Amino acid sequence: MSDNLHQLRCFGCGARIAGSEAQPDFRCAQCGDLFEVDYPGWMQRKGPDRPNPGALKWLWRERRSSSDSLDQSGVWRFRELLPILDSFGSAVSLREGNTPLYRLPRASKALGIDQIYAKHQGMNPTGSFKDTGMTAALSVAKERGFEWVACASTGNTSAAMAAYAARAGLNSLVLIPEGKIAWGKLAQAMDYGALTFQLKADFDGCVRVLTEIVRQAPIYLLNSVNPYRLEGQKTPAFEIAEAFDWNVPDHLIVPGGNLANSSALGKGFREMLELGLVTRVPRISVIQAQGANPLVRMLASHGETLEPVEAHTRATAIRIGNPASWRKAARVIQETGGWCLDVSEAEIAIAKAEIGAEGLGCEPASAVTLAGLKKLRAQGVVADSETVVLLLTGHTLKDADYTIDFHRGTLLSEDETGGPGSEVAGQIAALRRNAIAVEATASAVLDLLKGKIG
Ligand code: F0G
Repeated sequence: MSDNLHQLRCFGCGARIAGSEAQPDFRCAQCGDLFEVDYPGWMQRKGPDRPNPGALKWLWRERRSSSDSLDQSGVWRFRELLPILDSFGSAVSLREGNTPLYRLPRASKALGIDQIYAKHQGMNPTGSFKDTGMTAALSVAKERGFEWVACASTGNTSAAMAAYAARAGLNSLVLIPEGKIAWGKLAQAMDYGALTFQLKADFDGCVRVLTEIVRQAPIYLLNSVNPYRLEGQKTPAFEIAEAFDWNVPDHLIVPGGNLANSSALGKGFREMLELGLVTRVPRISVIQAQGANPLVRMLASHGETLEPVEAHTRATAIRIGNPASWRKAARVIQETGGWCLDVSEAEIAIAKAEIGAEGLGCEPASAVTLAGLKKLRAQGVVADSETVVLLLTGHTLKDADYTIDFHRGTLLSEDETGGPGSEVAGQIAALRRNAIAVEATASAVLDLLKGKIG
């Protein structure tokens, strides 16, 4: 019996096709929009394919004590809600998902909000949330017999793709913007054996080139226009709901780059609601960097279409000016009553250091979530009693240069901080922990500790 119960439905015109009929660029042949994975059997109230919420909650919990490798994956543990493979036995897994949900006591105290949590997707096997999507889409590539997979990337997708391709014995091709991705991520693509091309282009330029390539060569596209990526990336929504005993938090805050992750999490919560696993969904807010904020601009001007921008931000993961999944993300924000706003380079840097000081750390793009929450709190739209979850997307070691520059005081310009004596400069000074050069004697070290210990 096949495990496969899905179809693809065009997000724009609603056209339905079988998964195997998708074009290589995953665009609808009729209207050019993106597809969403759909499970028609779920809508038949008493049909055999409609999942039973009570039984699923029990089964998913049971699987946490199983030693089966599929059950140990935080994605495939929920496989009833992503029946995208002919056989779940084809799944390529690195034990992704099941990531920790941490409380942020310092942020809660500072902002006067009772409960702030971080869902740390940086604690995945390759250090970012991309692993949850990659296990899903790469497994489809393998089942369909592809020998090559490819992505354009700001770094994390390429790291995840390279690792999963290596595990599956497939070849991987990475296109990255030259000089514009963090070293940790480039090192991972090399380490896992990807063929890596650095293009004199930004991320959006790399996407354009790759789209042409997959139309001409038998290479499977693993960017997030591939709807199977989103099926894996929706599973942290299930983990969050499960962690709150199926009472969802009030608010989930997600960074926005290519806008697939916010779309995927929105889909996860929507499906849980439709299936009766939860009775409401959280607000989902999307935060962009000020220099890469096309969705913020579009929603603020009540525009109908996204106008691409030339993107600039040190949070290189989200340095994206022409995000593919903007329609899906806009729908999630509107349907859930969330907000979409942008934060400055200084706000990102400060928030990142604050998350570091909680003992967690994250990469710069992830820190937009806390920076965004601070702004929303200042605007008076988040109540003291709310439960807020920040989705941290990448591990702090992904971009160590950024962290070191911050603590050395060389990251931001005076324009960005407001110069010496400004409030921002004061906040930064309080957070900086630069390494200090000391003579190699106990007395020299003890001298420096005077007044700090005891
Ligand atoms: N945070 C991190 C750490 C990312 O790597 C990305 C995207 C995002 C947030 C934004 O997620 O694109 O779904 O809105 N990184 C991609 C990449 C584009 O190639 O690794 P999104």
